[in-house]
Amino acid sequence: MSTAARSAGESNAAWPEGRTPYDRATLGFKNYWYPVCLAKEVGKRPVSITMLGEQLALFRRGERVFALRDECAHRGIPLSLGKNEFPETNTIACRYHGWVYDLSDGRCVGALTDGPDAPVVGRVRVHSYPIEERKGILWAWMGTMAPVPVEDDIPGLMARVDTQLKIVKRETYGNWRAHAENIGFGHAPMLHRDSVWLLSRQIPAHMYNFTPHVQEDLDGEWVMDRFEGSVKQADYPGLGVWPELAGKPWRYRGSRSGDVFGIRAFISLRLPGINRVIHTPLKGSIYYEFYVPVT
Ligand code: FES
Repeated sequence: MSTAARSAGESNAAWPEGRTPYDRATLGFKNYWYPVCLAKEVGKRPVSITMLGEQLALFRRGERVFALRDECAHRGIPLSLGKNEFPETNTIACRYHGWVYDLSDGRCVGALTDGPDAPVVGRVRVHSYPIEERKGILWAWMGTMAPVPVEDDIPGLMARVDTQLKIVKRETYGNWRAHAENIGFGHAPMLHRDSVWLLSRQIPAHMYNFTPHVQEDLDGEWVMDRFEGSVKQADYPGLGVWPELAGKPWRYRGSRSGDVFGIRAFISLRLPGINRVIHTPLKGSIYYEFYVPVT
């Protein structure tokens, strides 16, 4: 299923007052796989993580990791505080009154302090989330439809077995859309003009005639911002000429960096909120940024 169909499908039920699915996706587009954390971060102790406005409890049982909503169906105690009372099974017992949940589907399979014949058994369930591990990263499906293959949502070049990843996680204030929209040429010619990394590159005053278009390459389907041309120096009415070129000829000797795997050095974006920059931070490397809404 195409990414467009998935994002439209989850939001078409109500589309009031001209608001687009994107306007409404304050907590992200649900019907996609999102990176949760590194697989090695989930060990013997459960891990609680909030993403897309929901709280997940992650549990490791051998090679597998399971995820449940981090809220017991009885009195709402976080299941990440629970105990593994039956190590031979894939279950977790709530620490408060001992309701036991099957990690694979969230069914209540026991209520310890109510005895083996507790009527609640089999009649209650907490939400479970499909989890996959790829490239040492745990990916969660929090969608409202059946999950698509996780490979659909991981850039093809990133998923290759011979790709080496250097991963950085950070939590930043602001809605994810503000971060996703920040990519590209809107800010770079101003903000990064004096960065060391760009000192030897040609940074124009502005570009013109942008035409967003979709391109499919080895890495999947991406939206790119193409521009027709750039102006090295411009005359701004009432202000003057900018930027100053004189005395800094070294700044303008930079040039294009070429391709990586045939992908031009354009900044690109794809759903549910992944930014890709070629040759960043080093020539020949690819930089991906996954925007994961929290609350
Ligand atoms: Fe979990 Fe009571 S709150 S068993």
